[in-house]
Amino acid sequence: MVNRDAFERVNYEVPGLADDEVANAPLEQFGRWLDEAVAAGVKEPNAMSLATCGPAGPVVRVVLAKVVDDSGVVFYTNLESDKAADIRHDPRVALCFAWLPLHRQVRITGAAAEVPRSEVDDYFATRPRGARIGAWASPQSRPLDSREDLLRRVADAEDRHPGDPVPTPPHWGGFRVTAGSVEFWQGQPSRLHDRLRFDAITPGALLSDPAGWHRVRLAP
Ligand SMILES: Cc1cc2nc3c(=O)[nH]c(=O)nc-3n(C[C@H](O)[C@H](O)[C@H](O)COP(=O)(O)O)c2cc1C
Repeated sequence: MVNRDAFERVNYEVPGLADDEVANAPLEQFGRWLDEAVAAGVKEPNAMSLATCGPAGPVVRVVLAKVVDDSGVVFYTNLESDKAADIRHDPRVALCFAWLPLHRQVRITGAAAEVPRSEVDDYFATRPRGARIGAWASPQSRPLDSREDLLRRVADAEDRHPGDPVPTPPHWGGFRVTAGSVEFWQGQPSRLHDRLRFDAITPGALLSDPAGWHRVRLAP
């Protein structure tokens, strides 16, 4: 049995998400909550769970959102990883940001598509050198013989790319998730939480376009 204290019930005594206060498009509401997460000191507020539909069933893991704009949410990864294989198998994905100190969650469903190489290169160039070398060295999701095996691969990558710039590995890239729905969840007392979901009226609706989304309140 694990520590029971970890399962302590938390009551969410915070202001709710009122219909007349929510933004009229998902991007603005997301931006407000992200700012508030930063102001509240949430660490890595851009961390999100990414669920994919793999050939063997659903899989979830955390990745970092690097862009959230009108056309969706971008994350970067190894294109030969399990998650990339899952997305090639089925582009439908789900994202979940959990800003627990604020008792908030944002869930996004959508479809993932590869980011153009020029955009990948621009982002890759901003990564610290160690992360660029690591992207060359790590066969993400594949078995390693040992930690030393990984460090040997890093040393090899250092030898092959001694200077700057370090080019983008062909097996490294990004995915943009085009949203079909965005749900804002605000914890409330007695588990009577607020849930407001924006559903895209047409696929690919711009996240800042109030005319592109239908809004519905859901039971908690
Ligand atoms: C806070 C956090 C941030 C992460 N960010 C990323 C990321 O941006 N890209 C990535 O490929 N993996 C990231 N990971 C690692 C993934 O969760 C996962 O272990 C890895 O991508 C392999 O997943 P896969 O085998 O399902 O492809 C992150 C993990 C954590 C806990």
